[in-house]
Amino acid sequence: MIEQEMDFENRIVSPEYNYNEDEAELSLRPKTLDEYIGQDKVKDNLRIYIKAALGRHESLDHVLLYGPPGLGKTTLSGIIAKEMGVNLRVTSGPAIEKQGDLVAILTSLNEGDVLFIDEIHRLSRNVEEILYPAMEDFSLDIILGKGPSARSIRLDVPRFTLVGATTRSGQLTAPLRDRFGVLLRLELYTPEDLAKIIMRSAGILGIKIEPDGALEIASRSRGTPRIANRLLKRVRDIAQVEYSGDITEEVARAALARFEIDELGLDDFDRKMLVTIINNYSGGPVGLDTLAAAVGEEAVTIEDVYEPYLMQIGFLARTARGRCVTDLAYEHLGIEKNGRSSAQQSIF
Ligand code: ADE
Repeated sequence: MIEQEMDFENRIVSPEYNYNEDEAELSLRPKTLDEYIGQDKVKDNLRIYIKAALGRHESLDHVLLYGPPGLGKTTLSGIIAKEMGVNLRVTSGPAIEKQGDLVAILTSLNEGDVLFIDEIHRLSRNVEEILYPAMEDFSLDIILGKGPSARSIRLDVPRFTLVGATTRSGQLTAPLRDRFGVLLRLELYTPEDLAKIIMRSAGILGIKIEPDGALEIASRSRGTPRIANRLLKRVRDIAQVEYSGDITEEVARAALARFEIDELGLDDFDRKMLVTIINNYSGGPVGLDTLAAAVGEEAVTIEDVYEPYLMQIGFLARTARGRCVTDLAYEHLGIEKNGRSSAQQSIF
């Protein structure tokens, strides 16, 4: 069989935001901490910090949200703004190209506003340097002119709250990381929490679904609400066209099998990666870059997108010498350790 090129953008279980996804995604986003399901530790902490800041009539300290994509970092920044009663301004590291871009944003903020910078680790050094005094003293040091006649002027900006998002806090430079007062790590969601999110989304979208159907979709959503909501909509299509319209456990199972997403939410690429480690590197250890080249994917994507879930379900271990496939993964794939089984050969 010919091996198919994997298309990361179109992968149904991709946790990345897909800009073609309809506006409904926005309507599904919770607006308050009470509506937000899961991430209890993060919510409890935020509740306290927000209450304390409001009590002191101050802006909230700068917040760094980190964790795998698709877990609701943008959503949380909206919730923070709403709970603080201020406006939200959304941008991203790559979108801020020049110092002037950031100066324009900062000087247009109102007192107390939340500025959300997604992928904050991708800010250029130049832009980052503008951000330091802005975060610390709410002031900007702007250099006017060049050479001997250059002058520096100091400009005040309104007190604001920076909410930065990144997949790993280690990707940030130390001076930037140190300027955040609140560091919150988002974890992959449990299937039970994802089932609650699916039930809530189904309610908003007018989709009829049984709790067992929701749990079935939840268990295959890789701990990620964005994937859960996407699968819900695709399963609804199948329920509508091929069944009576309601999403039952049976309908969910049949639909997900059609999408080639297995009981644990693994798709072709996950299986390809695990089988490559088994076949080419005797199950590991194999270095990240070597693995990335072997499966034709970028190392950072493997690290941020694929590995967190495979590690959470205990299929992959990160060791000092590289990545190793675990016994559990061999069992799930139907591959015998130290020997090829028929299942192994028929995976592709
Ligand atoms: N939709 C997406 N993420 C959610 C969450 N954490 N809680 C409720 N609804 C959601």
